[in-house]
Amino acid sequence: MVVNHQQYRTIWPNENLDRRLISVSIIDQTKLPHAFEVVTISTTQQMIVAINTMMVRGAPLIGAAAAYGVALAMQEDSEDAFLLSSAHQLVHSRPTAVNLRWATERMLTLLMPLPPAERLAAAWSEASVICDQDVLLNQAIGQYGLSLIAPLAENKKSRLNILTHCNAGWLATVDFGTALAPIYAAHNVGIDVHVWVGETRPRNQGASLTSWELSQHGVPHTVISDNAGGHLMQQGQVDMVIVGADRVTRTGDVCNKIGTYLKALAAFDQKVPFYAAVPSPTIDWSIDDGIRDIQIEERNPKELAWVSGLLANGEVAEVNILPPNTQVANPAFDVTPSRLITGIITELGIFKPHQLGTMPLNIKKV
Ligand code: MRU
Repeated sequence: MVVNHQQYRTIWPNENLDRRLISVSIIDQTKLPHAFEVVTISTTQQMIVAINTMMVRGAPLIGAAAAYGVALAMQEDSEDAFLLSSAHQLVHSRPTAVNLRWATERMLTLLMPLPPAERLAAAWSEASVICDQDVLLNQAIGQYGLSLIAPLAENKKSRLNILTHCNAGWLATVDFGTALAPIYAAHNVGIDVHVWVGETRPRNQGASLTSWELSQHGVPHTVISDNAGGHLMQQGQVDMVIVGADRVTRTGDVCNKIGTYLKALAAFDQKVPFYAAVPSPTIDWSIDDGIRDIQIEERNPKELAWVSGLLANGEVAEVNILPPNTQVANPAFDVTPSRLITGIITELGIFKPHQLGTMPLNIKKV
């Protein structure tokens, strides 16, 4: 990703003067789009807070953050008890995205058999391998997604309109994004794509993050209210929908940001192709019914009651939009059943939801 003409990833390790890795830098996503701030994370507890408060967010990125969280733990105490308790806390810092469990288990599988003295170096190295792999998976998703977009654009012979929800771009991953990777790939080869960006209440990841990164890359886009998607589809103004995912069952049910299900219903009704872009670490091979088996995160009611934005004087402020003592429910994700999904774009190709189980076995084990 390029921000203000400088190349970035969303997370990276820092060395001290002796070239020893000592901390991790993240982009504080709670400050975007009004400020671009890099924050240093030096302990596992700080990483747990960063994940939980969504300074880092998006399923692949919080997986990478958890891996670095384990490396930071090994800096504090590399004995079994601390490793296991840190891993446990990292996995539970947010419940829905399976990437946290995937990355933490991968770290434990590597570290537990090693003598404690060897764990720190191994942990730093494995966390950066996880990051590098995330980048490669997303680039591959971009190319497979491009193979869907290119013929649609060719048939249409005019601007292609793609609707997305939440933020499944650079900011939700180490780089490139999942749902936005095909859009960047199409834009980069000169296809005229325009993105409808659902604002994504309550935290507005679409309005604040997706629109910000699409602007940085120069991709034409329009922010719409969450409820406008169905109407635009009825009017023939949406050619395809691409969303990301936080957890996908082996049968192809897709759990993603709250509101995804309603968009899938409208797309199904209007025969608009609906794709989820999903790197394999987001597939939970242990479950087959997303509605029954996926824990949906319930977040703080304050997220719905208070809206953050820029005042006319340039200060960022939070305002309350609810009458006092109003009861609020804030489920953060929903599940779109596989029957509503046209296809799942992975790093290994595009699968019909019910064919996910045909992905190579060695991927399923991790
Ligand atoms: O609550 P968030 O912002 O972490 O939710 C993120 C999403 O729902 C994304 O669509 C999903 O993680 C896919 S990211 C590539």
